[in-house]
Amino acid sequence: MKVLSVASEIYPLIKTGGLADVAGALPLALQGLGIETRTLVPGYPAVMKAVADKAVKLHDFPNLLGEPATLLAAKHAGLDLLILDAPAYFGRMGNPYNAPHGEGYSDNWRRFAALSKAGAEIAGGTLSDWRPDIVHTHDWQAAMTTVFMRYAETPEVPSILTIHNIAFQGNFDAGIFPWLGLPSHALAVDGIEYYGRIGYLKGGLQTAWAVSTVSPTYAREIETPQFGMGLEGLISARAHTVHGIVNGIDTDVWDPETDETIARRFTASKLRLRDDNRIRLCENFGLDNDDSPIFSVVSRLTWQKGMDLLAEAVDALVAMGGKLAVLGSGDYNLEQAFLDAVRRHPGRVGTVIGYDETLSHMQQAGADAILIPSRFEPCGLTQLYALRYGCVPVVARTGGLADTVVDANPAALASKSATGIQFSPVETWSLIHAIRRTIDLYNDKKIWLQMQKQGMKSDVSWDASAARYADLYSKLQLMAK
Ligand code: ADP
Ligand code: GLC
Repeated sequence: MKVLSVASEIYPLIKTGGLADVAGALPLALQGLGIETRTLVPGYPAVMKAVADKAVKLHDFPNLLGEPATLLAAKHAGLDLLILDAPAYFGRMGNPYNAPHGEGYSDNWRRFAALSKAGAEIAGGTLSDWRPDIVHTHDWQAAMTTVFMRYAETPEVPSILTIHNIAFQGNFDAGIFPWLGLPSHALAVDGIEYYGRIGYLKGGLQTAWAVSTVSPTYAREIETPQFGMGLEGLISARAHTVHGIVNGIDTDVWDPETDETIARRFTASKLRLRDDNRIRLCENFGLDNDDSPIFSVVSRLTWQKGMDLLAEAVDALVAMGGKLAVLGSGDYNLEQAFLDAVRRHPGRVGTVIGYDETLSHMQQAGADAILIPSRFEPCGLTQLYALRYGCVPVVARTGGLADTVVDANPAALASKSATGIQFSPVETWSLIHAIRRTIDLYNDKKIWLQMQKQGMKSDVSWDASAARYADLYSKLQLMAK
């Protein structure tokens, strides 16, 4: 089976969050199931540089929504990439979506419509020797692919849209409509019209044959106004085709036994070796090297991630004897709040503002617990990395966090199935209570070790979920017959 995946970021070439990890890991997991995935990605400078010596030209688009573009093919890190080289759209350094120090690029509507248009052309048979059986789009940046497919002359290919975060919808002024080259009836309730504007994710929801999101709990949550962000009606209307499939992780990239970026490699039976990573972590974050528990954060510093709640809980965390190592970047005020906390609590709080893949591995390998107080979390990957590295996740009971961490309640502790701590509601007092519980568990060395080991046994691989995607693809293929 041949699948065209369309994504706006992909690990290891360009990443701002979990979407890149998933776009990079799922094709590798599907390979073992006989599914050949080619991923269409924008030719950002980082992508062009990585494939400079090996890219082959496949096709020219003389006028892709107003600008020329070239489709290239290259293999990289086991991935089969189709690269949309369009300097006018993607030839910008840095973050793929935002101008330096700024908001989203003002022409994002055109950049990602162009990516989607190219996807639709490939689905329609632009490449004479390769046409996909299934088109798989990710988030609003790729969601217009199935809209262009719906209104094209060529027969439709079965498709699936995966929602990684319904908070990001790609809504634009209706004035862009003439530029998209769609027939006038596409600007309707059953097309891309959305409350008098144009919604890319909304259009994808109307036109993709199936919809999935990245955990079963989030699939249910987005049927409600609290989580659906305005799209709950549409999600509920097609609830029977909205599948919740939890993400896996690349267990080769994230393997404490072979990880070359950490100070000392370890296994579940040699957890004492983690101490070297702990020491390295303390050095890097300026923390006292004592026995008190180290809580870590590896996150975008945003409201979604509940980082304001954590900023309010820092003093209590330190007062209870904990230490905190924060790695992240995001909202200016939150960055400042965590830098202030370092000034208030030298040796007890360390903050690194920035994005650092190596340091993120060190956090998982060296910290005792990771804090994830998200207000909503479609799946979340850092708790999965943590489980694999014997770092105990302390998470809000929402979305994929609720589905992947087993709370250390009395029953779970008795049956030795606990892998972390969940808390609810997602408020500061409740987070502080969860930190208290964590410290109490940490102080009982036997229970803590048991939880670490149980976490390391969790299946966080793609095996089960890749099989579910494969199954879905097959069902869609049957629908087309
Ligand atoms: P989201 O995609 O909503 O940000 P996820 O948990 O799905 O959340 O994925 C976040 C990914 O980005 C993980 O791979 C995490 O390790 C990584 N990450 C987040 N912040 C940083 C950072 N400051 N430095 C390095 N990696 C980070
Ligand atoms: C989004 C979500 C996150 C999820 C990731 C990958 O960024 O916020 O929860 O893990 O996509 O699916």
